[in-house]
Amino acid sequence: MTSFAPQHWIVAPGRPLRGSLRVPGDKSVSHRAVMLGALAEGTTRITGFLEGEDTRATARVFQRLGVRIEAPGPSERVVHGVGLHGLRGTAEPLDCGNAGTGMRLLAGLLAAQAFDSTLVGDASLSKRPMRRVIEPLTQMGARIDAADGGLPPLRIRGGRRLRGIEYALPVASAQVKSALLLAGLYAEGETVVREPHPTRDYTERMLAAFGWPIAFAPGQARLSGGHRLRATEVAVPADFSSAAFFLVAASVVPGSELRLEAVGMNPRRTGLLTALRRMGADIREENAGEQGGEPVADLVVRHAPLHGAEIGGELVPDMIDEFPALFAAAACAEGRTVVRDAAELRVKESDRIAAMAAGLRALGAGIEEHPDGATIVGGPLRGGRADSRGDHRIAMSLAVAAQRAAGEVRIDDVANVATSFPGFDALAREAGFCLHPGE
Ligand code: S3P
Repeated sequence: MTSFAPQHWIVAPGRPLRGSLRVPGDKSVSHRAVMLGALAEGTTRITGFLEGEDTRATARVFQRLGVRIEAPGPSERVVHGVGLHGLRGTAEPLDCGNAGTGMRLLAGLLAAQAFDSTLVGDASLSKRPMRRVIEPLTQMGARIDAADGGLPPLRIRGGRRLRGIEYALPVASAQVKSALLLAGLYAEGETVVREPHPTRDYTERMLAAFGWPIAFAPGQARLSGGHRLRATEVAVPADFSSAAFFLVAASVVPGSELRLEAVGMNPRRTGLLTALRRMGADIREENAGEQGGEPVADLVVRHAPLHGAEIGGELVPDMIDEFPALFAAAACAEGRTVVRDAAELRVKESDRIAAMAAGLRALGAGIEEHPDGATIVGGPLRGGRADSRGDHRIAMSLAVAAQRAAGEVRIDDVANVATSFPGFDALAREAGFCLHPGE
């Protein structure tokens, strides 16, 4: 019988982190590889696919839409593309699970289909704002109905003719940009998206790799409808966001020296490196290379005493998923860390400012929330009980902070770690964490 009982971890200070490890594939790239593979002509092979619940949910959605997807081995997918107009509608709701990326990108793509669709998600996703995609897609001619407050489920009408628009995003968001670009594949004329700060450009890069003419530069992208996607091979790099927990843990646990192998180093993702170095971290990049058109490098991190820093502005989108880990680093650093310009954290899988503030406070850290960030005062941490609020990155970040606590820490509601980082607990133990699932 499947049990839906919440799981928890018991975490205690471990040994210094040592050795060499490889984290799973990038979540953003894995979602997009399935999506573009499905819409392409021909067979797309994906290696390094993230076997997380989020990305598997996206693959299941496309199977529901008539796309044959095989899994010949772990982290491998073979997607038999049906072409831009080959998806088949279904009356069943399409379940995106916990994945904001899945739902927002699918909203763009499904708004352009001949059939109606309904997108649903889990309790967390059902509270996340969707107006940010509904409004511009409506300007393109789409018809999408949401629940009160612009929340999921999304009912998307088919058979609409879309037209390209020029759209300046009010908030920097790769998900919104990508939704518009995917709708733009089907639109008449040109779709132009401008961002207030540059965000991750995987959709743009992957569209180009699948042969779609697209012009892009940091902060803007433009494409026209009416071309074809051609199947290709996608080698997904290791997810920088998963490596982030180990970068912080090895920085704060004395005696650590850890190598993270072949991590994706897209500059729109590596803002945490800048932030940690500003705080005094010792992280070297070795064996720089390329994988699937993305820069990769080994990251060698050694323990170093961290001090507080100011983090905000342009750096924020480049480390948008790494703030929970940064908060953990700040709690172990000397002095004050001030985070600003990061109000988006309040509408992620949880309100990540409130969740980290409550979690770190439970371990004795001094932390004051701001509407767009927090001030964290580093100092000794104690054992206690903290709640991840069902958010994978909060759970893993609290486990990192617990490596420096004076006693045992219980972290509640950790099942959602499987959305982005299946096997985190085993890998963390291998590296030196003391972390065990509670009964
Ligand atoms: C993602 C974009 C980011 C990020 C999310 C993945 C993507 O969200 O937080 O985890 O794959 O495009 P926003 O674009 O909404 O900031």
